[in-house]
Amino acid sequence: MSHILRKILVTCALPYANGPIHIGHMLEHIQADIWVRYQRMCGHEVWFVSADDAHGTAIMLKSQDLGISSNELIKNIRKEHKQDFLNFNISHDNYYSTHSLENLYLLRKVFKCLNQKRLIQEKNIFQFYDNIKNIFLPDRFIKGICPICNAQNQYGDICEICSATYEPTDLINPISVLSGSRPILKKTKHLYFNLPIFSDMLKNWINSGVVDSVIINKTKEWFKIGLKSWCISRDEPYFGFKIPQHKNKYFYVWLDAPIGYMSSFKNLCFKNKQLSFNDVWNETSNYELYHFIGKDIIYFHTLFWPAILEAASFRKPNKIFVHGYLTINGLKLSKSRGALIKASDWIKCFDSDSLRYYYASKLSNKIDDIEINLEEFIHKINSDIVNKLVNLASRSASFINKYFNGYLSNELDDAQLYKYFVDSGVNIKSFLENRQYSFVIKESMRLLDIANQYINEKKPWTILINQKNLIQLQKICTMGINFFRIVMIFLKPIIPDLTCKTELFLIVKLTWEDIKQPLLSHKINRFLSLYERINREKIMELIKLTE
Ligand code: MSP
Ligand code: ZN
Repeated sequence: MSHILRKILVTCALPYANGPIHIGHMLEHIQADIWVRYQRMCGHEVWFVSADDAHGTAIMLKSQDLGISSNELIKNIRKEHKQDFLNFNISHDNYYSTHSLENLYLLRKVFKCLNQKRLIQEKNIFQFYDNIKNIFLPDRFIKGICPICNAQNQYGDICEICSATYEPTDLINPISVLSGSRPILKKTKHLYFNLPIFSDMLKNWINSGVVDSVIINKTKEWFKIGLKSWCISRDEPYFGFKIPQHKNKYFYVWLDAPIGYMSSFKNLCFKNKQLSFNDVWNETSNYELYHFIGKDIIYFHTLFWPAILEAASFRKPNKIFVHGYLTINGLKLSKSRGALIKASDWIKCFDSDSLRYYYASKLSNKIDDIEINLEEFIHKINSDIVNKLVNLASRSASFINKYFNGYLSNELDDAQLYKYFVDSGVNIKSFLENRQYSFVIKESMRLLDIANQYINEKKPWTILINQKNLIQLQKICTMGINFFRIVMIFLKPIIPDLTCKTELFLIVKLTWEDIKQPLLSHKINRFLSLYERINREKIMELIKLTE
């Protein structure tokens, strides 16, 4: 079978450097990592990059709170973030920062293009200003009553109750989140990017299949209202990159953030001299580009970002993979509290494969929110991974180790059933390709049920040990080991730790190419516990940590 090898760059949205990685962020990186590992297994050339989003008012204020410089804050946070991703086996090829020379270089290059094409316009506007803290207030630092539905306590850009979007100046009774005072209107000059000029290009691009139909519908509303020029500057004090020739003005964090995708890759090219930045990012690139993002940042990735790429003559992404939000029920963990489960706390109580497996069992290619439940989590891991998967290996291996010196038989007991498992791989592959991971898990568990039922029916433990029966016993257990191996190949991108232990145990690499060839006359290692059952008490431990 010949197949064309692909060249792919995958990114995850850049987490803000003002706080820890929580298990909501981790959902995105696990979703992307499973996809990346699957593509690598298929032999494609895949690069996977992300970075910290290190600029903006929130980061500046956070460092002030802590009494350290913003530089110090983002340095510390990046170290923590990198460790968190490492703990969950996220196989980034590079995890960089937007506060980098590469990002500054590319940002200036982009800005120069925008100017040359006369896409930047200066406007004088009135903006809310906190007279006590002496700072212009970003939308999220102003709260007030929604002008549409009169809900209290809404941010300056969007109402969380009625979803209306508006200007901060539309809020009724606005107050500054920073000082609690009433902000004043102050005149200031800002730079605007001409987004409306790209309306037709964007419409065509979005309809060319880069996003799911649900998202196309969402963007239709935006086009109906009409695109507006986008303000890309911010006043000082700000933590970010300065705008050349504009005193006291900084680039808005959301301009340099997506450029971070490029600069993280540029930094990777610096480390790996075989890679070429232009091969990936120029308009005629034959690399595929995919962004994994959450549904809250669709606007930035389907409108601003492709328009900026077009304006600066870079290639655009092939697809934007959007996921929903993680929510937690039960045990009185509220939505907002759920987001507060830090990845670093989770890993103190549970292993990485368990979260990866559980997320996979919940993930589809849709943007629905993903509700998780800790009781269900424990149950699923113990019943799927321990009782079905690992148990199949353990019960088969015990005989192989005991009576056959670790050797598998030289032929299968049921070649047809083996073939049935191999053939199921076709569906599994398409589920992995299309990010329908819950189907991968479902199908794998269905196959494991068949495998365990096979063993139950053959009852190897009742076989009388004599010369004739021994051959039969070896064949049955060899089937069990081979079923286990096939399902582990299917699950390899999802649970890398168990994969690693399995490869040591079976003394073989788990690959798609070898799947048709059963393991026969092959020596396996002594079975050592591959996976520990999870104790329910760990839930309380985790809850204590998050309090
Ligand atoms: N810094 C921006 C992204 C810039 S990309 C050029 C940002 N940062 S974030 O830290 O708020 O979010 C990073 C990613 O995590 C986003 O894709 C966001 O949707 C995702 N998630 C944040 N909280 C989440 C959940 N509770 N559940 C699922 N994903 C979540 O946005
Ligand atoms: Zn409202």
